[in-house]
Amino acid sequence: MEKRQELYAGKAKSVYTTDDPDLLVLQFRDDTSAFDGKKKEALARKGLVNNVFNAFIMERLEDAGIPTHFEKRLSSTESLVKKMEMIPVECVVRNIAAGGLVKRLGVEEGMTLTPPTFELFLKNDEKGDPMINESLAETFGWAKPEQLAKMKDLTFKVNHVLKQLFTEGGMLLVDYKLEFGIFNGQIVLGDEFSPDGCRLWDANTREKMDKDRFRQGLGGVIEAYEEVGRRIGINFPA
Ligand code: C5P
Repeated sequence: MEKRQELYAGKAKSVYTTDDPDLLVLQFRDDTSAFDGKKKEALARKGLVNNVFNAFIMERLEDAGIPTHFEKRLSSTESLVKKMEMIPVECVVRNIAAGGLVKRLGVEEGMTLTPPTFELFLKNDEKGDPMINESLAETFGWAKPEQLAKMKDLTFKVNHVLKQLFTEGGMLLVDYKLEFGIFNGQIVLGDEFSPDGCRLWDANTREKMDKDRFRQGLGGVIEAYEEVGRRIGINFPA
């Protein structure tokens, strides 16, 4: 497998073509951003930590029968993934109220959500990733109803697998965002799963162990990501 030219550079990852038209290289960079790119900083080791973290989670999800774009980890900061046609819709599940939900509805942070909520957002930085729904997604052609149904089903399957994994590590999976694409006509989980795209709290102290540490300027961002990883059995390279 040969890494070729850069196809796209996002806020935290870059994507490269390979000599196989069905495969891409994802490079996890140290760049960290929040508030639609308004807050930016490079955090040492973040690319490595998120790449190793994501590989571990994607393998667990595959083991549980959830199709993902992940093929294998190539280096400390690179992974090989399937080239998909991305669906520009972000799926968010919340088990506990925090972040955007608290802001929007004025509910108390930390409230347990029964049943967990499911929300859709349009992946569009310029418009600030606005909240959408199934009707808007269908009308504007962002995703078909049957694709949205599958995405919802898979997003909740991920909740089942990961809630258990993080609970065993003494943490609460508060919420997370997933992105999907189409590969060979099948809906497949894409992007990454790392503490950049979810909220994780210590189960006893409710200390934040995710990107909110960066958003809120709490410090110890990568130390917290590595602690999350260690608690679920990840050995990070030096
Ligand atoms: O900001 P909000 O509370 O709606 O985010 C819900 C979850 O989705 C959080 O875990 C957040 O990190 C994640 N998210 C993300 N990328 C976005 C929007 C939200 O990873 N563009």
